[in-house]
Amino acid sequence: MDREQAARRIAELSEQLERHNHLYYVEVKPVISDQDFDFLMKELESLEARWPDLASPNSPTQRVGGDLTKEFATVPHRWPMLSLSNSYSREEVQEFVQRIEKDHGRTVFTMELKYDGVAISLTYRNGELVRGSTRGDGEKGEDITANVRTVRSIPLRLQGNPPAELEARGEILMGRKEFDELNRQREDEGEEIFANPRNTTAGTLKLQDPKIVAKRRLQNYIYSLQAEVLPTRSHYGNIMQCRHWGFRTPDPERRFIEQADTLEGIMAFIAHWDRERHHLDIGMDGVVIKVDNIDLQEEMGLRAKSPRWAIAYKFQAEQKFTRLNGVEFNVGRTGAVTPVALLEPVELAGTTVKRASIHNADQIAKLDLHIGDMVQVEKGGDIIPKITAVDLERRAPGSVPVAYPERCPACGTPLVRDEGEAQHYCPNEHACPPQIVRRIEHFVSRKAMDIDGLGGETVEALFRVGLVHNVADLYDLRKEQLLALGKGWGERSTQLIIDGIAASKTIPFEQVLFALGIRHVGETVAKKIARAVGSMDRLADMGIEELTAIEEVGTVIAASIVEFFGAEGNRRIVDGLRAAGLNFAVDPTKERPRGNLLQGLTFVVSGVFENFTRDGIKQAIEENGGKVSGSISRKTSFVVAGADMGPAKKAKAEELGVKVIDEVEFRRMIEA
Ligand code: IVH
Repeated sequence: MDREQAARRIAELSEQLERHNHLYYVEVKPVISDQDFDFLMKELESLEARWPDLASPNSPTQRVGGDLTKEFATVPHRWPMLSLSNSYSREEVQEFVQRIEKDHGRTVFTMELKYDGVAISLTYRNGELVRGSTRGDGEKGEDITANVRTVRSIPLRLQGNPPAELEARGEILMGRKEFDELNRQREDEGEEIFANPRNTTAGTLKLQDPKIVAKRRLQNYIYSLQAEVLPTRSHYGNIMQCRHWGFRTPDPERRFIEQADTLEGIMAFIAHWDRERHHLDIGMDGVVIKVDNIDLQEEMGLRAKSPRWAIAYKFQAEQKFTRLNGVEFNVGRTGAVTPVALLEPVELAGTTVKRASIHNADQIAKLDLHIGDMVQVEKGGDIIPKITAVDLERRAPGSVPVAYPERCPACGTPLVRDEGEAQHYCPNEHACPPQIVRRIEHFVSRKAMDIDGLGGETVEALFRVGLVHNVADLYDLRKEQLLALGKGWGERSTQLIIDGIAASKTIPFEQVLFALGIRHVGETVAKKIARAVGSMDRLADMGIEELTAIEEVGTVIAASIVEFFGAEGNRRIVDGLRAAGLNFAVDPTKERPRGNLLQGLTFVVSGVFENFTRDGIKQAIEENGGKVSGSISRKTSFVVAGADMGPAKKAKAEELGVKVIDEVEFRRMIEA
């Protein structure tokens, strides 16, 4: 392939990938499989690697994350980014509408959701995304283009005929599902979990590594358009135009956007979302009502920072007063101490609330909490309800303030608080009971050693009676010891535990590594490390530099691994596990043997097969030393064609003189 051909193919692939991306993330109607998408992407990546000067910053390959950003440059907004005046009562909305009708006559309003995310301004020149910036102070924001490019619903190139320069504004959000998944992962890795999707989104957009941003699967909705000459004089019309250019815009069919020219219509929209908001996957905290006619918007003008032609109606986060019965200080697997409020049970947003998070010592001090106080609990966008206020008038005389412990509530070790961190930690990692119990719980959990019959309560009991002090002790347990514990330790359940522990000796090395609970080493990272390093002994000997050479391992993870194996207590436990016979190395017989029958050959697989799945054929090619490619080129040795192979591919193969074989011939090749 010469340079000219490469340029053409790069343009072709970029266009296809963007189109499939749009179909997947904006229209939610994908037409090709994820794998076919990946193949196209791989081809583009390899072309760009060969001809780096042909790679555009807006190439679809850049969505997976470009280079690290050292610091974010400050950039001015060509059109200021305004804010909205908020209202909390329907009367205020009524006044807003009636004032406009009185001054300007009857007019159309557009109603939208008030997304609870992070505002973003997207600048396009000649249809190409040139910048994504934060709101900042409204006049200037931060240039976070590299991170914005990773948001799949933001088009890198627009379709149709957009104005030469435009700014599309909208909100970046993290869905509930993605947020929960991220927190689950963080929990696995022993990291602190995030409080709510909004803060997580804001933090994510300020990360310096776009690769991490790309993995967080952020979403975007557009709510306003700025340009020298707008396509229409209706706000609603412009948003719909944005949709045609390829932006993700609120969907009228889901009532994310609607129009009305009466107060009743507006109130109906508010009432609808007041009911339905709890069922949405994205965060929203109200609705926005905008005068639709842009000429009228311009005539009405601005207050200091917000337009006169729009108002936000914010839903009240549900709040109630209840009694604070006490505060519990919980110690987690990593030693982090978190205060939890114990409340007189109260109904809030459809659930009974008995506990609330109080985050940290600063929060206790700020609220000046006393035991027995009547406290206001609120359930907003956060996963756990929080205490937002104290009713001082109802405070009982002589009540005692909540004191943050100086020592670990479980083991009495003085707590430490690292410079700049809000959390207190108990440093007594090898003798602090809850830390040990939590670590054992993690060890036996399904994705780790998957030991049937052992759960939180049994682990706690075994620790309490002194049978198990660390994870290695599990392998010394004998059935008689368990039976001797008496009530609740019957024949059947103890046998289940003993069998489960024995069976865990066959758990593969990668899971054993994850089970150790090394901070920052979650399931995926453990897998990558296990494959790259091969054995526990090699891993224990590795230094930071060697470790960071492994894919997915950065300095934080590497330091954590070195620290783990450096600690005497951990080394003893690891030795115990080795003696128990756990898998400490990748099992070579489990790795698929690689033949070399197809060495040096490149295959393209296309169509539907009778005796194979398409993935099955690809796997068979790789197992026999061959390579699989997504598209036919001069380098292709064979096309394995099933039924329904596209005519374009057939023609291409013919044109390049590439041999086309069917599945019978393919089978013959690998059975030779
Ligand atoms: S319009 C003309 N529409 O609310 C005013 N803003 O307080 C410009 N927001 O920072 C904003 N949903 O991030 C507009 N449908 C919506 C919105 C919305 C959420 C946010 C936006 C802005 C803040 C303004």
